[in-house]
Amino acid sequence: MKYGLFSDVHSNLEAMTVVAEAMKSEGVQDYLCMGDLVGYYANPVETLDLIESLHCWKIILGNHDAGCIGTTDISRFSAPAADAIRWTQKQLKPQHFDLLKSLRLREEIGEIQLVHSSPFQSEEWHYLTKLEDIERNFRYFQGFICFFGHVHKPFIAEQKIDGTVRFLEEIETTLQKDCRYIVNVGSVGQPRDGNPQTCYVVYDSDTKHIAIRRLDYDYETAAKKTLQAGLSDYLANRLATGK
Ligand SMILES: [Fe+2]
Ligand SMILES: [Fe+2]
Repeated sequence: MKYGLFSDVHSNLEAMTVVAEAMKSEGVQDYLCMGDLVGYYANPVETLDLIESLHCWKIILGNHDAGCIGTTDISRFSAPAADAIRWTQKQLKPQHFDLLKSLRLREEIGEIQLVHSSPFQSEEWHYLTKLEDIERNFRYFQGFICFFGHVHKPFIAEQKIDGTVRFLEEIETTLQKDCRYIVNVGSVGQPRDGNPQTCYVVYDSDTKHIAIRRLDYDYETAAKKTLQAGLSDYLANRLATGK
């Protein structure tokens, strides 16, 4: 099965449109989304409608989605993020709230685990970036591979049969059947790894081939709409630098 995996769209319609088109033309058979559909940017309604039109097999609940439906306290968010959630709540229609309310913190498809933040204490929204934390998180899921989002920086971490863990340098490779993997699929709507290009992952569960894809999109329009909506200029400006 060829999966298209994406996360942290954050209501960035320009980026999601490019990613949806690219996944379709690459022949993706099933779509999996790791959450944070809304928050930060100016097109929550259109972005949710587009994601719904993909008929994703699984969508995970992100902390911004949870903030939007009131199951996570947004007083812990930064001021621009909390403002964007309050603004988003005014835009959404009942069916969008219903969609967000239907999402779960974890999903499993055979050997594939999906979470938004981390396998360990998924509801605490930890940021999983350090190798020692990733090493510990391999104990908190079963199966071959865990995909997640939340940190907005794509990477592939590999655990060998002897337990040692390392980051892979390749962004496209064939995974080893006797290893296990934790993969961050990056962010569609707000990359933070210094590359402003939008990001998604294609994974073939039969051949074990995986690729982190980066594509140009019109971040200037996304930034302009952010300012027009009265949302934060900090959020608008960071799209150009990917930081
Ligand atoms: Fe996010
Ligand atoms: Fe998140």
